[in-house]
Amino acid sequence: MARVKVIGVAGYSGSELARLLIQHPNVESILLIDRRAEEPTPIWKYRANLRGTTDQMVVGKDDGSKADAVFFATPDGVTMNHAKEHLDTGAKVIDFSGDTRLRSAEIHQKWYGIEHASPNLLQEAVYGLPELHREELRKANVIANPGCYPTATILGFAPMVKKGWIDTSFLVADVKSGVSGAGKHLNTRMHFAECEANFNAYKVVGHKHTPEIEQELSLLAGEDLTVNFIPHLLPVTRGILATLYSTLTEDLSIDQIQAEYESFYESHPFVRVLPQGEEACLKAVQGSNFLDISVHVDSRNSRLIVTVTEDNLVKGASGQAVQNMNLALGFEETAGLMQPGLWL
Ligand SMILES: NC(=O)c1ccc[n+]([C@@H]2O[C@H](COP(=O)([O-])OP(=O)(O)OC[C@H]3O[C@@H](n4cnc5c(N)ncnc54)[C@H](OP(=O)(O)O)[C@@H]3O)[C@@H](O)[C@H]2O)c1
Repeated sequence: MARVKVIGVAGYSGSELARLLIQHPNVESILLIDRRAEEPTPIWKYRANLRGTTDQMVVGKDDGSKADAVFFATPDGVTMNHAKEHLDTGAKVIDFSGDTRLRSAEIHQKWYGIEHASPNLLQEAVYGLPELHREELRKANVIANPGCYPTATILGFAPMVKKGWIDTSFLVADVKSGVSGAGKHLNTRMHFAECEANFNAYKVVGHKHTPEIEQELSLLAGEDLTVNFIPHLLPVTRGILATLYSTLTEDLSIDQIQAEYESFYESHPFVRVLPQGEEACLKAVQGSNFLDISVHVDSRNSRLIVTVTEDNLVKGASGQAVQNMNLALGFEETAGLMQPGLWL
């Protein structure tokens, strides 16, 4: 049984993580920390739908108790300054932010615009995509939970990049995210009046998730590659839909490609490769840790088109973090995560 801590529980991904940990069969104690809590406060005051389901409290400060895993559901710049104090006690650190995802301090500074305070973390961390790094994650002390956009993009392209069946000089990821992907703090773009019934791309060139997508796909390809990653703001609360484009390098049928995706993800419980003709959609993944993939080929121009859906707060953040904790602490990979999505 595990003792865990969550730093940043008042945020969207932190409170989703609390929901998952409270009903996790292998978690015996949870310290939920919101730096603004002046007194112990029930978790349902943060997530009203938990009222009556748990007596779990939130506190304002770490009580110094020992934990097996510490989750940083905090913005960029926090983990790099505070991971060490938890690692020194023997806890595993699972980081939601961009502080541990890249392997080079120089590349980190280029994309995040700040000097890394603990570059050694970049060497120690394992990128937390179980579908690519499951065995390393079992031994990891620092886990870099991936970004929500990169999870969909990397997993959508991975089988083809690994196989060498697509032209890696032309990888386009057109990815749409619900508004909760931006966290709970308001800016003008996130006001109801700005995003309701609206739809737009943003940071069309240079979004900070680009280097982790390129890092992981380059590892699979065995060579450095670049990706055009274009994020969009979708006027829904939860969910990501990625539409991925590339060109086939060989004359391959849709049946061969479908079979390759199915074989690649055969042993991965949270990736569902949908049968041909079925389209990945948001409702099938909202509230769940599943990621759905639909594969298509336009034989007129040898274009591969893959659509991927996930819940940004679950497989894109908190569910994936629990999946990583399960691996790192030796639990069943699926423990606490098999509930289906919300549907209507
Ligand atoms: N939202 C998503 O879909 C998603 C997906 C994947 C990854 N992520 C990543 O997960 C992290 C959290 O995202 P979010 O969307 O949950 O953000 P959020 O809703 O803004 O919540 C962030 C939380 O962190 C707390 N916090 C900020 N600075 C802190 C500090 N120095 N010490 C302790 N707590 C601090 C905030 O508290 P205050 O209210 O006091 O500032 C807030 O409760 C980010 O790194 C984000 O990039 C988010």
